[in-house]
Amino acid sequence: MSLTSGPGPGWLLFSFGMGLVSGSKCPNNCQCQAQEVICTGLQLTEYPSDIPLNTRRLYLNNNSIRFLPAMNLGLLSDLVYLDCRNNLIQEVMDYTFVGVFRLIYLDLSFNNLTLISPYSFSVLSNLVQLNISNNPHLLSLNKYTFANTSSLRYLDLRNTGLQTLDHAAFQNLITLQTLYLSGNPWKCNCSFLDFTIYLIVSHLNHPDELNATCVEPTELVGWPITQVGNPLRYMCITHLDRQDYIFLLLIGFCIFSAGTVAAWLTGVCAVLYQNARRKSSEDEAEDEHGQRVEVSRRIFQRGVDSGHDGFPQLI
Ligand SMILES: *[C@@H]1O[C@H](CO)[C@@H](O)[C@H](O)[C@H]1NC(C)=O
Ligand SMILES: *[C@@H]1O[C@H](CO)[C@@H](O)[C@H](O)[C@H]1NC(C)=O
Ligand SMILES: *[C@@H]1O[C@H](CO)[C@@H](O)[C@H](O)[C@H]1NC(C)=O
Ligand SMILES: *[C@@H]1O[C@H](CO)[C@@H](O)[C@H](O)[C@H]1NC(C)=O
Ligand SMILES: *[C@@H]1O[C@H](CO)[C@@H](O)[C@H](O)[C@H]1NC(C)=O
Ligand SMILES: *[C@@H]1O[C@H](CO)[C@@H](O)[C@H](O)[C@H]1NC(C)=O
Repeated sequence: MSLTSGPGPGWLLFSFGMGLVSGSKCPNNCQCQAQEVICTGLQLTEYPSDIPLNTRRLYLNNNSIRFLPAMNLGLLSDLVYLDCRNNLIQEVMDYTFVGVFRLIYLDLSFNNLTLISPYSFSVLSNLVQLNISNNPHLLSLNKYTFANTSSLRYLDLRNTGLQTLDHAAFQNLITLQTLYLSGNPWKCNCSFLDFTIYLIVSHLNHPDELNATCVEPTELVGWPITQVGNPLRYMCITHLDRQDYIFLLLIGFCIFSAGTVAAWLTGVCAVLYQNARRKSSEDEAEDEHGQRVEVSRRIFQRGVDSGHDGFPQLI
């Protein structure tokens, strides 16, 4: 059978075009209706192909997907809702969502995220709700991660490995209302101070605030991070940098040197004074001695004079 017999390349092209334009296809075993595609719990290990291009809501939750391909995702330019809960996604690379710039809802909870590249969400200026909770291997977030997600209202960062956050990461989140931070091993050191102050002044909702506590240092273990701003400020204000120590050392040295010089001068003065006094008292003593000599001479003379009266045995 040759290729020219049968339906023919024209038909193939036509059906491909139809599939692409009308979105009439549906991934195997998924349910597709009214711009909504549901592929929940199908044990998918890859992002499914044949997702209708006009899809607005896509459910990929409860699968074993490891990677979100930016190219395929980028075809869904009407997508506003993407649920990737309960998968095995490890990394979100820069510009993964560059084609789905209308996204309003993004759920990446219960994955195995270790890295979110700083430009991952860079075009998601319509995003309202972002959930990256329950990714225990996610240890840090870059301070530019949320630089362009300026419509964000709900941010869920529960149960990750985050130990600290840079308050600069929240600078552009002017519409943020609700922030979940519990279940993270927060390290409440002085680098964390600015973020805790931000939590105090920003008046966000923290529905889980009593469970968002410090695990370090020992003085602050169990303190909710929304309340730790003031004690931390108190601890960190008396904290000294290396320059401060050098400065204090220099001051100390100056005081020590000044003291030494002063002591030396005092010593010199004391010695001079003592010398002067000794000199004058020696003169006096000499005088006294002279007098005494005279007195004894007189006594002697008297003795000698009265020697005849039986006194010479005294001498
Ligand atoms: C998805 O998985 C979670 C946890 O494994 C389970 O609790 C939930 O019922 C599942 N949802 C669906 C729709 O299968
Ligand atoms: C999750 O990520 C960690 C760290 O990269 C890795 O050791 C672990 O095997 C991953 N788990 C799964 C189920 O892929
Ligand atoms: C934010 O958006 C601007 C303009 O679209 C872009 O130049 C910049 O690289 C983006 N920054 C981040 C961190 O995504
Ligand atoms: C984020 O996801 C978790 C688990 O899927 C869920 O319990 C939580 O309600 C979600 N948070 C928000 C703000 O939707
Ligand atoms: C505070 O803890 C964080 C997270 O472990 C660390 O990156 C940072 O260097 C620490 N800062 C100070 C001042 O110790
Ligand atoms: C805090 O954690 C406890 C125990 O893990 C849990 O029972 C409680 O519901 C949590 N509270 C909030 C507000 O998340």
